[in-house]
Amino acid sequence: MILELRDVRKDYGGVEVLHGVDLQGRQGEVLAVVGANGAGKSTLIKILAGAQPMSSGEMWMDGERVELRSPHDAHDKGVRTVYQELTLVPELSVTENLLMGDFPRKRGLIDWSAAHARARELLESIGFGAIDPRTKAGRLTVARQQMVEIAKALVTEPRVLVLDEPSAVLAGSDLESLFALIRRLRERGVLVIYVSHRLAEILELADSIVVIKDGKVIETTEPARTSEDDLIRRMAGRKLEQIYPDRRQERGDALLTVTGLTRRGEFEDVSFTLHAGEIVGLFGLVGSGRSEMARCVFGAEPATSGTGAYRSPAEAIAAGLALVTEDRKRSGLVLGMSVRDNIALTTLRGPLIDMGRQRRDVAGMVDRLSIQPPQCASMPVVRLSGGNQQKAVLAKWLLAEPRVLLLDEPTRGVDMATRVEIYRMIDGLARSGIGVLLISSDLTEVMGATDRVLVMAEGRITGELRSDRTTEDEILAYSMGQHA
Ligand SMILES: Nc1ncnc2c1ncn2[C@@H]1O[C@H](COP(=O)(O)OP(=O)(O)OP(=O)(O)O)[C@@H](O)[C@H]1O
Ligand SMILES: [Mg+2]
Repeated sequence: MILELRDVRKDYGGVEVLHGVDLQGRQGEVLAVVGANGAGKSTLIKILAGAQPMSSGEMWMDGERVELRSPHDAHDKGVRTVYQELTLVPELSVTENLLMGDFPRKRGLIDWSAAHARARELLESIGFGAIDPRTKAGRLTVARQQMVEIAKALVTEPRVLVLDEPSAVLAGSDLESLFALIRRLRERGVLVIYVSHRLAEILELADSIVVIKDGKVIETTEPARTSEDDLIRRMAGRKLEQIYPDRRQERGDALLTVTGLTRRGEFEDVSFTLHAGEIVGLFGLVGSGRSEMARCVFGAEPATSGTGAYRSPAEAIAAGLALVTEDRKRSGLVLGMSVRDNIALTTLRGPLIDMGRQRRDVAGMVDRLSIQPPQCASMPVVRLSGGNQQKAVLAKWLLAEPRVLLLDEPTRGVDMATRVEIYRMIDGLARSGIGVLLISSDLTEVMGATDRVLVMAEGRITGELRSDRTTEDEILAYSMGQHA
């Protein structure tokens, strides 16, 4: 047994969130950890990483008791962790982020070409050769940043690699690169601990699956002995009847018409119309320009040519647009501020704020999206679990009562039971006459929750498909520019 946790408990300021967790991992095993938002997965991982002390309990490695006092201790023991939140320094290049000061030198000076070469070699060796090591990390898409985070954990070979929702932002070939990498590490005897809400991939990848609920391990199983439905039922504590609402909607007037929109170097000649009452999916692989396009429509980036985009976010918001971004840390939330103030941020305009109403609105959202814990309104957002932070971003924009809702990966990191709730809310909004653009890397979602799907590849719209008449394979083919 390479790694073992015995009766691990953790409390934050007197509130216990892990209630005696036992866990065992072997060499060459992919151990998946699943559970609803706030179940305690990331807390468990921070303990394994030495980033948080356990309140009580024991950790054993190779039959010896170990105590981790810092991330440094964990690193020494060969435990490498990729966190749910990105940790790269955006102003530094990929190379600087990867080598972290351990640069090759020539006559006392940093040998930059050797440093970049070493970074490139590392990226290529793990199948991420598409990333240019000279780029500033902050210029990369969230998906690419995630891949650099993984590369950083592999600068020296780990014995235990812990990944907290590594795939949430990945799709297509990036996702395949990640899976291939995990399989290679497994063959080399690494224990890979893998947290994800994407159950299909867990069933494909994992050797064993641990289900956590409310801070306790409630089941340890294997892919052959369980199913997606079964896992969802265990995690949520109930059966989910229908994941996607039935969509058969009359669409109304055009709310947003984009024509020939171009931002040089990012996307080109994009045209589409979004009508009242419809939900349009936008699917594309990393680098296809989806998020950039949405940001441009919202006025956050200037267009080179074309019409339909707003000149500034202020103008877009005044016209009734809302953009829910994929990177909650950078543009969605003020982490130190309370959940209530964050959610109310968009409705704080004007001299008269009705505090009573604001409280009720926020409480209503916390309840509808089941943001956990229920009494979270006055807590700082940073204390929420990742998925619950994501729900807070969504709540904030829903309260602004937009006419056009641009959603960029709104269910990233959100558990299945809550996703169902979010799909139901989006459907309800569309029925009330709002137009929704749903950007997603999740093929099932982009088909299931929408009326039609636009596909982008390399900055262009390559296809438009009716959600009820297409297939995952067809959408994927368009996204890779391989359609007939
Ligand atoms: N720094 C903190 N202070 C206080 N409570 C915290 C802190 N971090 C997490 N918690 C609480 O601990 C519980 C478990 O959170 P954790 O982040 O481990 O959940 P998770 O399983 O990773 O969820 P998700 O799927 O949303 O990422 C939650 O109730 C959360 O609010
Ligand atoms: Mg988490």
